[in-house]
Amino acid sequence: MPESESLSNLLSENRLFKPSDSFAKNANVKFDSYQEAKKDRLAFWEKQANRLTWDKKWNQVLDWQLPFAKWFVGGKLNASVNCLDRHVAAGIGNRVAFFFEGEPGDSKTITYSQLLIEVKKCANALESIGIGAEDRVAIYMPLIPEAVIAMLACARIGAMHSVVFGGFSAEALSSRIQDADAKLVITSDGGYRRGSAFALKPAVDKALENPNNVKHVLVVKRTGQEVEWKNSRDLWWHELVEKQSDEHEAKSFDSEHGLFILYTSGTTAKPKGIFHTTGGYLTQAAYTHHAVFDLKPEKDVYWCTADIGWITGHSYVVYGPLINGATQVIYEGTPDTPTKARVFQLIEKYKVTILYTAPTLIRTWMKWGDEFPNSCDLSSLRLLGSVGEPINPEAWMWYREVIGKNNCPIVDTWWQTETGSIMISPLPGVTETKPGSAMKPLPGISAEVVDDKGNPVGNGKGGYLTLTEPWPSMTRGVWGEPQRFIDTYWSRFKNMYFAGDGAKLDEDGAFWVLGRVDDVMNVSGHRISTTEVESALVSHEAVAEAAVVGANDAMTGQAIVAFVILRGGIDSATGAELEKSLKDHVANEIGAIAKPKKIMVVAELPKTRSGKIMRRLLRDVAENRQVGDATTLADPNVMKLISEGLNSGKSED
Ligand code: WT7
Repeated sequence: MPESESLSNLLSENRLFKPSDSFAKNANVKFDSYQEAKKDRLAFWEKQANRLTWDKKWNQVLDWQLPFAKWFVGGKLNASVNCLDRHVAAGIGNRVAFFFEGEPGDSKTITYSQLLIEVKKCANALESIGIGAEDRVAIYMPLIPEAVIAMLACARIGAMHSVVFGGFSAEALSSRIQDADAKLVITSDGGYRRGSAFALKPAVDKALENPNNVKHVLVVKRTGQEVEWKNSRDLWWHELVEKQSDEHEAKSFDSEHGLFILYTSGTTAKPKGIFHTTGGYLTQAAYTHHAVFDLKPEKDVYWCTADIGWITGHSYVVYGPLINGATQVIYEGTPDTPTKARVFQLIEKYKVTILYTAPTLIRTWMKWGDEFPNSCDLSSLRLLGSVGEPINPEAWMWYREVIGKNNCPIVDTWWQTETGSIMISPLPGVTETKPGSAMKPLPGISAEVVDDKGNPVGNGKGGYLTLTEPWPSMTRGVWGEPQRFIDTYWSRFKNMYFAGDGAKLDEDGAFWVLGRVDDVMNVSGHRISTTEVESALVSHEAVAEAAVVGANDAMTGQAIVAFVILRGGIDSATGAELEKSLKDHVANEIGAIAKPKKIMVVAELPKTRSGKIMRRLLRDVAENRQVGDATTLADPNVMKLISEGLNSGKSED
């Protein structure tokens, strides 16, 4: 099991932070929710489903044929109506839905009424080009309002969206377009990042050189840069969408109608198309957003810094907050442009009350120095959240002291693309928190840390994190690969969902998520599979074999370290140049986020007799540790060879 080094120190210190009396008193969710959900879990979720507006009520709360769940069976609803129409009908159309801030400093305020009009126009536009409830739409955009509008317009007409993070390469986009068999791509000419315009449309053009069934590409003009244009295929958003009627009647869809696909890395080279359906997903996204972020929609200004290319952007920028009528900030750019105080300036400008971000960013802020947050007025903040990877206690404390001024509860939220919504987290008005712990499963959620055989380990011990009862926003499967869903999540332990994470229960039964136990890396909160990077590397002409590991990294959680064997005739002395070419190749194949931080050229890789690469040993090398037990290696000398080779050779950072 992975062990966090500082864990034992931490547990002995046992710092506990209690919600203030006033926070506790006004909290949306109180302690009795745990008991209520425990007494009758299905009745609890049924009550939460009533946060939504249903056109037809369900006749069964849960149909559970392990591992296949259907929630709120027979119910009908429309996701975009739940996010928009019903708020406007309730008279809060003038409430701000989004304060959008572009990286160059342009900004836009969009009310719920305005957002509804834009979504209706976009829905009409999509229908006018033949998109309907049977289709998939790929969305490849920067974080601009049109990205949210596109998602909601798809939901409105029942087409599943498949958002592909704008940082992914043309290759990655192409395989996702093919896998989901998308009929339409929505993109932009480009966006702004780190002070300059980047392009997106060329990647779409390149992706569509591969076989596909895409009929149209709808392009938002964001930067005004020149784009290549295919008249029969490409359409400008400002021409097609703007001329549409702002009347659009939304149809109701079945509770189990597909809402979206989102690709995430697994243990093989092929990403998994995790798909989610409507009623259950929206129910849990809305409930957890209400409970964990304690949203008071009339007063709060909520900011989740995630991109819509990740599940966090789906559940906690789009669906959860909009269902709850939140006022949000969205920001297109990076936190260091034009200054390292950018995020803090925006907190001050918009008087943000709730901030939800990732440990990597928190650690980056720590490194940059307190002068940046201290230069801004952060006193509007009342709640802080963290997601994506384990947060180390030092970063947690810094977040609490320097950003929260010791005045804000911190919610460390554990969940996954597959779980759809938050599963393990403190309730901010109830739970006494410990720095670095996600504390305990939310009301209505059952999690267990188990040993190799699937038996609960009990307090004070570590093991595998599993989920033992179905939950409304659970993935309904892997798109096009039903068996992979069963194999990946339901085969390791009988009757339990295995999440891929190791975890430990402390003496009080609090959960400490320790990180992945499979061949999946977590770099800056982004999931990347070792095999995916390996297969990108071996597709380079110079590489014969590759093994990739995630090595601990103080800033990004894990960093990608690759060990490569070169093909005969390639001289490893071309070191720096070759390394750059390999890194660029990976960026091309997958995206910049998958670029190895370090590439080490070796003569051999450590393999067992059955040919499995022993990544554990490579991790020891990558983390500069004494190499562990190598007795099961086919060739016991390999590790010595690798270490010697590396010490005499060079490795660039
Ligand atoms: C994996 C899921 C959940 C949205 C963002 C990532 C890790 C996530 C935590 C946390 C420790 C965490 C896990 C998980 N993870 N949140 N609070 N503490 N680890 O979604 O890409 O589906 O990745 O991220 O390893 O399995 P994802």
